[in-house]
Amino acid sequence: MTTTADLGPVLDDLELQAHEIEVADVADHASLTGAALGESRTRLLVLPGEVGDLELAALRDRLWPQAHVTAVYRISEQGAVKRQALAKNLALPGEVSGPARTLLYVRSRADALGRSVTVAKFDANAEGWNGVPGAPTYGHYRWMRRLLAVVAKPTAGLRCLDAGCGAGWVGIEAAKLGAQASAFDPSPEMVRIASDNAASEGVPLDARVGFVEDVPFKDPFDLVLNSGVISFAPDADDYLNSLDALVAPGGTLVIGDLNPLARGFKRRRKRPLLPARELNGIRRDDVEQRLRERGYHCEGRWYYQLSFPIPEMMTVSEQRWNGLGCGLALLANKAATAIDHGVGSSMASQFDSWILKLSKAP
Ligand SMILES: C[S@@+](CC[C@H](N)C(=O)[O-])C[C@H]1O[C@@H](n2cnc3c(N)ncnc32)[C@H](O)[C@@H]1O
Repeated sequence: MTTTADLGPVLDDLELQAHEIEVADVADHASLTGAALGESRTRLLVLPGEVGDLELAALRDRLWPQAHVTAVYRISEQGAVKRQALAKNLALPGEVSGPARTLLYVRSRADALGRSVTVAKFDANAEGWNGVPGAPTYGHYRWMRRLLAVVAKPTAGLRCLDAGCGAGWVGIEAAKLGAQASAFDPSPEMVRIASDNAASEGVPLDARVGFVEDVPFKDPFDLVLNSGVISFAPDADDYLNSLDALVAPGGTLVIGDLNPLARGFKRRRKRPLLPARELNGIRRDDVEQRLRERGYHCEGRWYYQLSFPIPEMMTVSEQRWNGLGCGLALLANKAATAIDHGVGSSMASQFDSWILKLSKAP
């Protein structure tokens, strides 16, 4: 039986004390599921021998949605330990005695998508999410997110909220189109960046710190924009109830997020480790159904491409062609999704993101 005392280098790497983690030997992982594991606490599952990536990917899928595999530790027969993680792979200092084993560091869903995790993650990478001019993903932040505000078509003076604003580009675009824009995000760093971005773009933006489930504004808004956030929510129904409370009767909600049907995401599922957010992605039709049940009427559905090659094309366009290609790419994207809509969503797998525009009953 493996105990925490055997796993010093792994615990050191996780920066955990022995009492903070449970170690469980799993003799037969082929039938292990998240339901069998339960939601309880953080643990290290110890599988005998070396387990291949595809087998680990299948196990990760069976453990979700109750639990998230955050890292893999491979212990060789000689006692060397290699860490596989989303952030960085590493050979650990020190050795672990005993046979070859594969360890999975598993967190409960509530932990993996917890509030403190979200705040820490976005505070730490806030500058990266803002987008650095010249970087390949720059166009992604500056242009594709514009699509959401453009789809919303805010009229002058409309009270508009960018919920989960990140660097604020969606709300800023709405403000440029004439809306009276407010915004919030759980990450104080993102809120600071959003405020700076609004100031440098010359538009007012009332940006505050808060969660959709714990909102820093009292009154509902005529237009709520929500881009790329629902997949971070531990409970989609709680989240949508809170989002709904932010939309005034007769108001509009424009919501978008990653598309779990996309080919790219399906390919990535062969990897043993994926961010919890990617496993937690919801299909467009599922979100639409949940919002219909809350009294919304769908006015428009789109798919769009956030990853290669669109942002790269837009960056080149912005830098070399004075932005001309950006408008064209957005138009092409809109045309492709209109065709998709016309033929019944047969192109869903071609796009990594979706948008819904819905009106709330008066
Ligand atoms: C992928 S970024 C999208 C940012 C921005 N909406 C955009 O489209 O550029 C996700 C953002 O959602 C925020 N977030 C995560 N969970 C949230 C929640 N429950 N309520 C509000 N914002 C949340 C994060 O802090 C992060 O800034």
